[in-house]
Amino acid sequence: MSSVDVITRSQPEPDGVAAILARYAAIVDDFQSLLAISQTPLPVSFWHNPLKGDAIALPDVLTQQGVALEPIPWWPGAWRSPHWPSPGNTVPFAAGWYYVQEEIAMAAVAALDPQPGEVILDLCAAPGGKTAQIALRNPTGTVIANELHAARMPSLTATINRLGLTQVITMQEDGRSLPLPNFSFDRVLVDAPCSGEGNLRRRKRQQPWQPDHGLRMAAAQQKLLSRALDLVKPGGTVVYSTCTFAPEENEAVLDAVLGDRAEVVPFAIPRLRYQPGLTQWQGETYRADIAHAQRYFPHLNNTGGFFVARLQRTAAPALTTEPLESSKGISSPPNASGLAIAESPLGPICDRFGIPPAAFDTYDCWATGKRRYWLRDRTSQLPDELSPQTLGLSCATQTNLGLKPSTAFLQRFGQLAQQNVIHLPDWEAVAEFLRGGSQPLSANVQPGYVHVRFQAFELGCGYYRGGYLESQIPKILRRELAGIGGN
Ligand SMILES: C[S@@+](CC[C@H](N)C(=O)[O-])C[C@H]1O[C@@H](n2cnc3c(N)ncnc32)[C@H](O)[C@@H]1O
Repeated sequence: MSSVDVITRSQPEPDGVAAILARYAAIVDDFQSLLAISQTPLPVSFWHNPLKGDAIALPDVLTQQGVALEPIPWWPGAWRSPHWPSPGNTVPFAAGWYYVQEEIAMAAVAALDPQPGEVILDLCAAPGGKTAQIALRNPTGTVIANELHAARMPSLTATINRLGLTQVITMQEDGRSLPLPNFSFDRVLVDAPCSGEGNLRRRKRQQPWQPDHGLRMAAAQQKLLSRALDLVKPGGTVVYSTCTFAPEENEAVLDAVLGDRAEVVPFAIPRLRYQPGLTQWQGETYRADIAHAQRYFPHLNNTGGFFVARLQRTAAPALTTEPLESSKGISSPPNASGLAIAESPLGPICDRFGIPPAAFDTYDCWATGKRRYWLRDRTSQLPDELSPQTLGLSCATQTNLGLKPSTAFLQRFGQLAQQNVIHLPDWEAVAEFLRGGSQPLSANVQPGYVHVRFQAFELGCGYYRGGYLESQIPKILRRELAGIGGN
């Protein structure tokens, strides 16, 4: 089986580890334990997607296949495994039942603490692990997921589609200068680009912190944090996080930006060990409230390294204070993006698959161009001033062969389908389907697009004609699943 690991499980040389960590010896409790654990591989960690499958069935399915798991005590519905070479190469993964994420990175959304109905901005979002956690904790709200780099947008959309999220809107903007809408967000996450020292347990080669590079990162981090404070409402929450140890990219960024605009406030994540944020570093003194930030060194919880600060914006003059009109949904198409309320493809899809149309009473459809449709939860809200790239879940495309439901749509809603469903007979057929292949199959369906299922796994879209099932699985999801009996 070829490896499609989401986490690359290599580790740096011992000398390299010591060189990277040496500058932090004075600020780490039990430096020898940090050195020792940093030379061991990082466990694989993942969380269950409550929109798919069953949180009780998932660990059973995986342990039956020989994956050793233990629950993560501080994040319900998450597990870690000491050794799992290919966590992204399973059928439940392809069906969107779980997301693989470094355990300690989950602390950012725990600190953000999304609440139902809120409008939340994830300023640096790709590949979307934290976007998804925010959306799943806030199913009646809206998540605006922004990413600077075009090359990283597909990974963000792939996460939204694989997990079946309908209330995430994506944008591609520079977070340092994101246009200011005429309302304020309830919460903003700044999971900033950084020098990434905290990833040393999964990188073969990592350099000690480089001042030139690190200070360039710090300049960008300051601008991102400053923009987040412009965008959040007075009294609202901003979480600033990085996966680096360097105080220059953590405490110093907070100290440079906050002034009277925000305070660092305490937060508690039960059963997660941390050291407090620094108020002194290499002759610099930082403001006292920075001690409320949390530093997670790898030996404290057997994870990677991470830094999280939870900020509350003060009532200092805001750029705008207009609240977003609540619960009105999108009333008019946003101009800049080319999105428009679509003539809904849901009617024909419901007819073909025998899905009760009432299942979509709380959704609406949008089109990009003439051919591509998106499904959006109507409780989510779209600020007119922002230009989305995608709006909810990929739903369908108009093809030469007719209206094609997306795999993302069928994986999320296919369990409601009562006709034109193909049940695959065995793991070999599943492997062929997920590889994107074509296979002979006798099925009692009408020729055309079909929903494909195996056991409890909603696998997605196929095309059936002449006794053959042709997989329509998107390239980004295809897996080389030879030996899939083990999955
Ligand atoms: C640490 S990663 C984010 C990880 C993500 N939050 C997750 O949980 O999957 C930082 C991201 O910020 C993006 N980025 C870098 N500079 C940015 C900017 N000026 N505006 C917005 N995003 C930026 C990077 O391309 C990268 O995808």
